[in-house]
Amino acid sequence: MSKTIIISNRLPIKVQRKEEGLAYETSEGGLATGLGSIYKEGDNVWIGWPGLFFEDEAEEQEVTLSLKSQSMHPVFLTESEIKEFYEGFSNETLWPSFHYFSQYTVYDDVYWEAYQHVNRKFCQAVMQVAQPGDTIWVHDYQLLLLPAYLREAFPDSSIGFFQHIPFPSFEVFRMLPWREQLLKGILGADLIGFHTYDDVRHFLSSVSRIIGMNTAQGMIDNGYRQIMVDAFPMGIDYEKYAQLAASPEMKEKLIPYNEALSGQKVILSIDRLDYSKGIPARLQAFELLLQEYPEFREKVTLFMLVVPSRDQVEKYKQLKETIDELVGRINSSYRTISWNPIQYFYRSFPIEELSALYTVADIALITPMRDGMNLVCKEFVASKLDQKGVLILSEMAGAAKELSDALIINPNDLGQMVQAMREAMTMPEAEQQIRMQHMQDILKRYDIHQWVSIFMNRLEYIKLKQLSLATE
Ligand code: F6P
Repeated sequence: MSKTIIISNRLPIKVQRKEEGLAYETSEGGLATGLGSIYKEGDNVWIGWPGLFFEDEAEEQEVTLSLKSQSMHPVFLTESEIKEFYEGFSNETLWPSFHYFSQYTVYDDVYWEAYQHVNRKFCQAVMQVAQPGDTIWVHDYQLLLLPAYLREAFPDSSIGFFQHIPFPSFEVFRMLPWREQLLKGILGADLIGFHTYDDVRHFLSSVSRIIGMNTAQGMIDNGYRQIMVDAFPMGIDYEKYAQLAASPEMKEKLIPYNEALSGQKVILSIDRLDYSKGIPARLQAFELLLQEYPEFREKVTLFMLVVPSRDQVEKYKQLKETIDELVGRINSSYRTISWNPIQYFYRSFPIEELSALYTVADIALITPMRDGMNLVCKEFVASKLDQKGVLILSEMAGAAKELSDALIINPNDLGQMVQAMREAMTMPEAEQQIRMQHMQDILKRYDIHQWVSIFMNRLEYIKLKQLSLATE
């Protein structure tokens, strides 16, 4: 029977080394959360890195066996591969560049060599499990060369590629010395997906201007195959979040939050530690709110969760220090005996706890400088069973294209963020409910299951079209 092979740099489960031995935890980030609920279907398998360096083969074998029993196939990375491929090319070259932080981009040939090598390594891992007729679905910017490598190995297979982060404008993308190889890598796929039409537009413009291929109507003809490029805005497992919020255990979970935050308007902020998320600007806007509108002091709490991420990368270390300093400054300037303006946590929270936070929060403040989609804002909306609550959302997040009933802001405009917080805190309940209802309707209809099935159907369609063109 044919199966679907999902490949991403990181598996949805990450292995941690604890005193008691190896521990298996859910990975952070949109990709793992989004696809986490579907990869176990049928004979499907997920290939990826389990997120740790293992010193001996015995440990690797233990991990392989344990992951295999959960439909996962690990790709192990050496220390230098982690440094040069993951921290280096993926997160010091592609990540800043694709998020319009070009001034942070590191151009290093050693990183590039490692990137090619690890993409080959992933290709070999796929070759170990793939059978003719399988559908192969490659995910995200760490594996841009993999579709082309797979095409060499499996000329007739259905290969899909989806990028979870933005695709930058041609003017930014062209700055990468390896731009042509990267595009040709992606073009090994039959179907190429992005979250938004803007990403599609940027990608097509790069393909046409850098490699001169015709890109009319989202179709690319590379001389051998027709390749389709389209937008597939990723949804969430809506039912899972709605059910968690409605679960009988939730009442109990809410008690400590309600006690600690009683009488407060709660503004919720949840992100991985990342400069693309705009956390310092968000903190500055909150500080401005307290400064300019003293009536809100002791009446509002910013509940800020920062999930540790890529903490070996220099820019992330610096960001952590900036955030720590800002939180310290704001709290020490405004706190009173009975009130702390910012409740700041630097760790990951289990999903049940996140659900409690979504339920308790009056406002979600999601203000990335740039974000492929942003699923946290969707999870907040899905968790609002009574439809009371306001979403403040950056226009730079892919999700803003769908969630136009949020209060949409420009994250560089601190004044606008302050006014949005004021508006959210004073918005009549009836208006909150109308906006929330609209957003819920959209997210319910276009959930993660729909997203997967639309992508897969489109992949099947383009494969059939290629066949019919070949026989014409
Ligand atoms: O969702 C985007 C993404 O970059 C994924 O590719 C990635 O797995 C996730 O965020 C978290 O990042 P990392 O794997 O570097 O911890």
